[in-house]
Amino acid sequence: MDLTRLMKQQVGITAAQRVQTGMVVGLGTGSTAAFAIAELGRRQREEGLQIIGVPTSFSAAVQAKQEGLPVRTIDQVDQVDLAIDGADEVDPQRNLIKGGGAAHTLEKIVDGRADSFLVVVDQSKLVQQLGAFPLPVEVLPAAVYGVMTALTKLGGTPQIRLGVKKDGPVITDHGNFVVDVQFEAIPDPAALEMTLNNIPGVLENGLFVGLVNEVLVGRVVGDQVEVYTLS
Ligand code: 5RP
Repeated sequence: MDLTRLMKQQVGITAAQRVQTGMVVGLGTGSTAAFAIAELGRRQREEGLQIIGVPTSFSAAVQAKQEGLPVRTIDQVDQVDLAIDGADEVDPQRNLIKGGGAAHTLEKIVDGRADSFLVVVDQSKLVQQLGAFPLPVEVLPAAVYGVMTALTKLGGTPQIRLGVKKDGPVITDHGNFVVDVQFEAIPDPAALEMTLNNIPGVLENGLFVGLVNEVLVGRVVGDQVEVYTLS
């Protein structure tokens, strides 16, 4: 296994070991969160852990079911005790860019509802300022060109995300498009998050501001991988 994958695995496993029987757990999307879901499945089979999972995407739901974890939608639970999810960028204030897997709308709903939101990343995701990663914005297809014009006026360079092994745009779990927006920098994530969500036709953007309780980071020290909490 290459080192990046190993960092993702260790951090995912460490997060899943925080989970206790009886918890309702938000199940994140992406390759790092997938290691946490796999560990929850192992713990259920081998240790008798009993949880209810709330997937943040179709892909997380499929994996959870394969692992035999009971799942509910966010509307079927009264509370989420802990959400474990990855990120594309993390700044020193623990603000995030998410949506590399086009799942940020439901991720923000589930992660935002959690009593505790635990982010799992490898060291490459840590940045001084958000914005090198193009910001994912979920957009109603009927409004996409108007939204792109508005994004350009805000100083961004928007691009409709295209499918792989599929001609045309990526379609989200909710039937919408994703527009990835390159900004020169994002000095005020809270203001930009609100401005973007105020554009008619925008469903949600990938800025997560003030939602995170803890960030677990996987890093390489010598030839070892270790996990630490971002302070
Ligand atoms: C999906 C996400 C993912 O959490 C993010 O893209 C990180 O993915 P990975 O763990 O594979 O690097 O926001 O919408």
